[in-house]
Amino acid sequence: MLSIENYQEGFLKFLKEYDVVKEPKGLYDPIQYILNLGGKRLRPVLTLMSAEIFGCDFKRALNAALSIEVFHNFSLVHDDIMDDAPLRRGETTVHEKWDINTGILSGDAMLIMAYQLFENYGAVTFQALAQLFSKTALEVCEGQQYDVDFETRHDVTIPEYLKMIEYKTAVLVGAAMKMGAIVAMALEDDQDGIYDFGKNLGIAFQLQDDYLDAFGDPKTFGKQVGGDIIENKKTFLYLKALEFASKDDKKTLETLFSQNLEDNTNKIEIAKKMFISTGSAEITKKEIEKYTNKAFSVLETLNISEDKKDLLKVFGNSLMSRAI
Ligand code: IPE
Ligand code: IPE
Ligand code: MG
Ligand code: MG
Ligand code: MG
Repeated sequence: MLSIENYQEGFLKFLKEYDVVKEPKGLYDPIQYILNLGGKRLRPVLTLMSAEIFGCDFKRALNAALSIEVFHNFSLVHDDIMDDAPLRRGETTVHEKWDINTGILSGDAMLIMAYQLFENYGAVTFQALAQLFSKTALEVCEGQQYDVDFETRHDVTIPEYLKMIEYKTAVLVGAAMKMGAIVAMALEDDQDGIYDFGKNLGIAFQLQDDYLDAFGDPKTFGKQVGGDIIENKKTFLYLKALEFASKDDKKTLETLFSQNLEDNTNKIEIAKKMFISTGSAEITKKEIEKYTNKAFSVLETLNISEDKKDLLKVFGNSLMSRAI
């Protein structure tokens, strides 16, 4: 096994060689832009690591890793339209830099490019990858629809929220890992095990994303802090705050989260105060730990060496302490 930095480097080199510079520029420039805007490259690194964990040279998994990253970036372009987000990775979002139609079409093209990358594999691997990818991509759409539906609902439950983030975010992290295992032709049980590890890590990851959306540092976070509050997102932070708020605070919070305002300064300030005073911020941190540990306990059921498990644990722990 190599270090996490080595996999990152290997992926970035491969991405650099990926040729998306074509005509018409109106379609391909935004794709080039979003793919080179940086980002943590978490999912492709997981694909590469997973391939090596199951005994295959990571280089054979580069096309699958790139497919996952292109799909992820496609989902961000469309997500930023849906969330009316101005900032991504510290820069202007695609639909603000160009326009909404550009975001839609360049995003569509990226989804197709993601599929196309599977053509680099033989028939058996191609079919397994495509099958997993189609299932996962549809689930992401379902999760995104729940996320939007919840903006205007006032009876969202914690289990509903958890299902929503499992679909919109966690299944892709699971699939990223399973793709590495597929390329490595790992046993089916191992493929499913590593998928479960990734899925639980993905749930922790989205909980942390929600936490940072409210409490991240605007100087480093790279997205608009308070964006979820502005959009009335029913996050874990919000749902737990409601559960533990006094009757009056509960009313204030519910009223606040049914409004669409011009100036959101007060709304963000009040919401964040309540996330803290109700204990919700702390509970959310505990929940992130809970799902990270759940992922680690899945790891124990896998038939892989301790040093490989340790590397995945290092990665999982580093996600928990991230600030972006
Ligand atoms: C953002 O994902 C979308 C979520 C599922 C939370 P990342 O936080 O992995 O975004 P980048 O790729 O590092 O920018
Ligand atoms: C994004 O969830 C999930 C997908 C892109 C499918 P968010 O809306 O929380 O992601 P960010 O915070 O914009 O990155
Ligand atoms: Mg968003
Ligand atoms: Mg969203
Ligand atoms: Mg978010």
